Amino acid sequence: MKVLIIGNGGREHAIAWKLNQSPLVTKLYCAPGNAGTAQIAENLTIDSDVIEDIADFAERNQIDLTVVGPEAYLAQGTVDYFQMRGLPVYGPTQAAAGLESSKAFAKEFMAKYGIPTARSETFTDPEAAKDYIRETGVPVVVKADGLAAGKGVVVAFDSETAFKAVDDLMKVKIFGAAGDTVIIEEYLEGEEASLLAFCDGNEAVPMPPAQDHKRIGDGDTGPNTGGMGTYAPTTAFTPEIRERVIQDILTPTIQGMKAEGTPFVGTLFLGLMLTKSGPKVVEYNVRFGDPETQVVLPLLESDLAQVFLDCLSGTLNPESVRWKKGTTAVCVVAASAGYPGKYQTGLPIEGLDRIQNSLVFHAGTKLNFNGEVVTAGGRVLNLVHLGNDIRQAIDGAYRDLKLIGFEGMYYRKDIGKRELDRIR
Ligand code: AMP
Ligand code: GLY
Repeated sequence: MKVLIIGNGGREHAIAWKLNQSPLVTKLYCAPGNAGTAQIAENLTIDSDVIEDIADFAERNQIDLTVVGPEAYLAQGTVDYFQMRGLPVYGPTQAAAGLESSKAFAKEFMAKYGIPTARSETFTDPEAAKDYIRETGVPVVVKADGLAAGKGVVVAFDSETAFKAVDDLMKVKIFGAAGDTVIIEEYLEGEEASLLAFCDGNEAVPMPPAQDHKRIGDGDTGPNTGGMGTYAPTTAFTPEIRERVIQDILTPTIQGMKAEGTPFVGTLFLGLMLTKSGPKVVEYNVRFGDPETQVVLPLLESDLAQVFLDCLSGTLNPESVRWKKGTTAVCVVAASAGYPGKYQTGLPIEGLDRIQNSLVFHAGTKLNFNGEVVTAGGRVLNLVHLGNDIRQAIDGAYRDLKLIGFEGMYYRKDIGKRELDRIR
C-alpha cells in the first residue's frame, strides 16, 4: 500500500520510519517532510497548507492511507474532508479533535462523563476571570481556549502573573482568537506523564507511558518548549495507576465520544498529572505527541500500518498490538541556539553518518541546494537510543549525540534523570 504522511517534525519522521518497516507498505510520501523523511519517503513539494491539493495528490496517486501528524490539520477538518472525498485517512474528525482544539469543550466533556481533571471555570470576560482568580487564590493556571502551539498556558504562583496572563490572552490577544475564551484552572501537583493510545472509535489500546521534558533548561527551568526530550516506559506510571487511567479516563473518554456521536478514531494522547488523589487529565491531544512518538514507536513490535488499518475499520484488537519487553527508549532533542526564542537556520549538520547504534529522527532539517543537511527549525534532531534499562538508554543517547553537531547546538543534559532518581 501507498501511505502519505502529513507533517514535517520528528514525530512524522518516526511514523515514517516505523511504517517503512511494514511489509504492507510499498511506497511512502511526506507532505512536506524533512531531510530525514527524504531518506525513506518521497517528500512532496505541493503546498501542504492547501488540503485540497494534498487530497488531489492522494486521489490521483491512489494513496491507500493518509496519516495526519499535526493538530492544526485535524482542527481544520482535514479528516472530514478526506472522508468526504472517499480517501482513507488516519486521525480524528474535526468534531472529535475538539478535545484538543477547545479546552472549554474538553472541560465540559470531562465534567459530563465524570473524568478526573483540575477544577476550572471558563470565561469570556477578563474582569470576571480576574474576580474568580481573586476568589480562588494562587497558584492557579490560566489557559487559552484555542490552539496556541502549546504556549497558551501560564502557571501563576502570584496574582500579578495570573492577571497579566488574562490580559495578554484576552486584551492584547497574543494568540489571537485562541484567547477569546480563557479557562482558569486549579493548580495540580504531581508528576506529569503522557499516555498515547490507538483508538478505533470503540476500543483504545494504550502505548507505553512516556515522560516529556517541556522546559528548555536542565532541572525543568526556563520557558516551555515543544518538548526537549522523552523516555518510555516510565515507572512513575505504576500498574495501579495504569489501571485507574484506563478505567477512569481512557475508557470513559472513548465511550463518551461515541455517545456524543463523534467517535474518536486516531491517536488519543492523555496529558496526565499523577496527583496524590489519583491521575487527572491536564490536557487531551488528538494526535501523536512530539517527542513522545520518537520513544514510543521504536518500542512497537507490531506492524504500524496494520494497526492504522484496524483503527479505520473499527477492528482494533489489543492482543495484536505488541510491545518490546525489557527495553527503554530515551530521546534527546538537539535544538538551535536561542530556541524557543529566535534562532538562526541554514547551519550545516555534521556527523549524521557516524551514528550506528542510535536512531536519529529529524525535525527542523532540510536539504540545501548542495544536497547537504542543514538546520531549518528550532528543534532540529531527535537522538533516540534503546537500552535494556534507563541507564543504558541515557548513556547511549548522550554518547551518540556527541558524534553530531551544528553551530550552537543545544540539548538538555538531564533527560531521564527523574526516572534514574526514582529507581535508585
Ligand atoms: P498544557 O498545554 O495544557 O499541557 O499545559 C502545559 C503545561 O502546563 C503542562 O504540561 C503542565 O506542566 C502545566 N499545567 C497545565 N495545567 C496545569 C494544572 N492544572 N496544574 C499544574 N500544571 C499545569
Ligand atoms: N510533547 C507534547 C506534545 O506533543 O504536545
